[in-house]
Amino acid sequence: MSEHPRPLLLDVDTGVDDAVAITLASRLERHKLVALTTVAGNVPIEYSTDSTLRVVDWLGLDVPVYRGMSRPLVAPLATAREHHGYTGLGSWTPPEAHSRIERATAPEAIVQTVRANEGNIALAFVGPLTNLAVALALEPRLPEMVSKLVIMGGAFFSRGNMTDLAEFNIYVDPEAAALVARAGFDALWVGLDATRQTQLTADDWKALADADEPAEVLVREVMRRSFEEVGRSGFPLHDPLAVALVEEPEIATTRRGAVRVSLEHGSRGETRVGAVAVPDVEHGVADQVNVQRFFRLFGKVCPRLTKD
Ligand code: BDR
Ligand code: CA
Repeated sequence: MSEHPRPLLLDVDTGVDDAVAITLASRLERHKLVALTTVAGNVPIEYSTDSTLRVVDWLGLDVPVYRGMSRPLVAPLATAREHHGYTGLGSWTPPEAHSRIERATAPEAIVQTVRANEGNIALAFVGPLTNLAVALALEPRLPEMVSKLVIMGGAFFSRGNMTDLAEFNIYVDPEAAALVARAGFDALWVGLDATRQTQLTADDWKALADADEPAEVLVREVMRRSFEEVGRSGFPLHDPLAVALVEEPEIATTRRGAVRVSLEHGSRGETRVGAVAVPDVEHGVADQVNVQRFFRLFGKVCPRLTKD
């Protein structure tokens, strides 16, 4: 561990790849995971929170978990249980958690954690952006107070996964995403364009068959349903890539510009990066991923999947 790791708050809608992202976030050298906040997304809030607590206990982490928004700002909640299973952890049921939900809500915890670590904290959001939009309403200075914001969301240069144009996290709460895009952050948006380059293949999954280390067992078990029951050939490591880019931004090239989120009927949730007009702010959007370098970092979770 480097001498002064930077605090990291991770917001999740656990979620198969969220569970893997929590694991990676807990094993970084330059960042220390100090808080987990949960949101409704892949599964309803009760399930994303309970699954997060179970993952925390499974990994033996001492990280507070704050429950967040139970629905998007405007739209009704759309879940992705067909991909993540009923509870969010595929077909895996880790032991019931002993850790408990903290008293503060997620938006309050985001504000408090940022205030306590002003200028030094990194934030990563890998679910719908509802908690961040509410936190911004509580503390509009957040953009000046954080050192880094990485968002898994969007489909900027390639097709979406909810509609042809929209990616899941943005589609679920486009109003929140539009607010965040205009808030004044210089964020790094990690869309499907980048995350689809990081496939954990069926062969990778089989290589974990006799794993017994908790992190490798977690990866194997959360993905069992996708590979065994659904018969997928690969699983993109969406949320882990966002966490990896908190630690090592050089893993991906970026394009820069203003990020716009469509709220229009017909293109709702579409994300674009383009020319900056006053008072727009510039963001980065991940583009080409150095996959080998990503998997080298991912070796902290699954040493046997390092692709050298
Ligand atoms: C994103 O949507 C969710 O289903 C995943 O957890 C990831 O955050 C990918 O579109
Ligand atoms: Ca997610």
